Amino acid sequence: MLLQLKNISKGYGEKGTHSFRQVLNELNLEIGKGEKIAIIGPSGSGKTTLLNMIGALDLPNSGEVVFSGQNITGYSKKELANFRNQHLGFVFQLHHLMPQLTLWENVLLPLLAQGKISTDQKEWAEYLVKKVGIWEQRKQKPAEMSGGECQRTAVVRALINKPQLILADEPTGALDENNAVALSELLIQLSVEENLTLITVTHSSELAQKMDKKYLLRNGKLETDKIRSSR
Ligand SMILES: Nc1ncnc2c1ncn2[C@@H]1O[C@H](COP(=O)(O)OP(=O)(O)O)[C@@H](O)[C@H]1O
Ligand SMILES: [Mg+2]
Repeated sequence: MLLQLKNISKGYGEKGTHSFRQVLNELNLEIGKGEKIAIIGPSGSGKTTLLNMIGALDLPNSGEVVFSGQNITGYSKKELANFRNQHLGFVFQLHHLMPQLTLWENVLLPLLAQGKISTDQKEWAEYLVKKVGIWEQRKQKPAEMSGGECQRTAVVRALINKPQLILADEPTGALDENNAVALSELLIQLSVEENLTLITVTHSSELAQKMDKKYLLRNGKLETDKIRSSR
């Protein structure tokens, strides 16, 4: 078991007042190593909130997030930051690349934050950049790249630390149909090859169908979606 969510509840606003809104309600989830799951659900159902809990970007009001047997809900801010850097890779709907840096610099940025970059790490970066088909663009800045190229750069950046778990929040949401399909295939292919665990929130049934399991977030809980994936 790589990840376990135990009775996670999360709400916003002040408890006991009308402003309080319960978003996640005693939610449970178990994910094995290498498993790939999709989370679907209408806008506002709490998908991003859920990823924020898993990614330790925010803490639940109650419940536990257990990663590789460790309860991370008790970690300090610093421990959480280390945990994210070591074990997680994030892909968002918008790429969040640094506009002043080239594609290549953006990809290496998470490694630079940890100090000197080794030859192995550079080779890994080169492998990934070539693999996703953006090697020719490596000296370009985000403004000089297409949306698809920026998003592929964001995928490489998420993988650069060889994380165990990739969290993707509507990764194809800002792309046109062709680019969305290409990016979905890349995400799946890379996570299969590297035996990564992948949790993706998506509106794309194309992407959702390619995953091992599909969950619907409804009324603050995850329901196993009836339609089995075809992969
Ligand atoms: N930081 C926040 N403060 C207050 N309310 C929030 C915050 N983040 C999300 N919400 C609310 O929680 C609900 C779920 O939001 P979100 O997790 O972003 O849903 P989804 O990603 O499924 O669209 C929404 O009603 C949203 O307005
Ligand atoms: Mg969202």
